[in-house]
Amino acid sequence: MTSHPRHFLDLPDIPADDLRHILAHAHQLKRNKFQPPQVLSGLSLAMVFDKRSTRTRMSFEVAMKQLGGHTIVMTADDMHLTGAESIEDTAKVLSRYVDAAMFRISSHETLAEIARHASIPVINGLTNHSHPCQIMADLMTIEEKLGSVKGKKIAWFGDYNNVARTIAQASKIWDFELVAAVPGELAPASSGDIKITQDAAAAAAGADIIVTDTWVSMGQEGKDIQKFLPYQVNPDLMAKAKPGAIFMHCMPIHRGEEVTNEVLSTSASVIYDEAENRLHAQKAILAWCLEGTGVKLV
Ligand code: CP
Repeated sequence: MTSHPRHFLDLPDIPADDLRHILAHAHQLKRNKFQPPQVLSGLSLAMVFDKRSTRTRMSFEVAMKQLGGHTIVMTADDMHLTGAESIEDTAKVLSRYVDAAMFRISSHETLAEIARHASIPVINGLTNHSHPCQIMADLMTIEEKLGSVKGKKIAWFGDYNNVARTIAQASKIWDFELVAAVPGELAPASSGDIKITQDAAAAAAGADIIVTDTWVSMGQEGKDIQKFLPYQVNPDLMAKAKPGAIFMHCMPIHRGEEVTNEVLSTSASVIYDEAENRLHAQKAILAWCLEGTGVKLV
């Protein structure tokens, strides 16, 4: 393995040209989805979870298998990661067994520490800070449905969470407008170039893409959802967006809370394409990460 592995931890850490290349490759892999190239033949990916997952786990497993590789899945509790062994030792030992490792762990700092000590690529499968694999799939979906995301308006509703934060990171790289309608007390202390508002109708006005996420992220069960009610995506809110606007949600969805069934049953909803694109985007991410081992992108 290269002494400088290509980690996929946070979008701003990765050269913009490489991110654009990964997206283009993801589209190509989707076009050829019935004849996936065996570029990861013989390679293995470790996947470690400290939270539940349907899409991330399944799509990474299928991605590795379709490209000729295989996976080893563990929960963080199955390992010595949570205190019984140093993070450095865990990272160095994993690096001797597998060719890449994907972590879904709450602490982004722990993920970064693993990456610092690993000699294999480390991939962020969701931390409390960010969800870059999800946003690569989202950008791929937008390109499929609406063409280039450059100059488009994305309106976010609800909790300003790890997914919203990653869209904000992407807005600077891909040059699109992000307006986030969030309850005042949840507004980020520093919003950079993105607009934060408490006016959901104003955020939706003229938007190309309407996005939301669960109001209660994993580990926040019992949270009061009353403050989010004005930010629900429903037909009235969708009507304020641009004609032809699409609705996106990374899933899992709490139907009737952050979005209504009426919206989900319209052709504006692209949630299943978005979920499918996790598979294609992650194949391209894996190929990019593992290119340093001699994998040739096709
Ligand atoms: N969107 C997403 O990451 O889904 P899972 O939690 O099911 O992996």
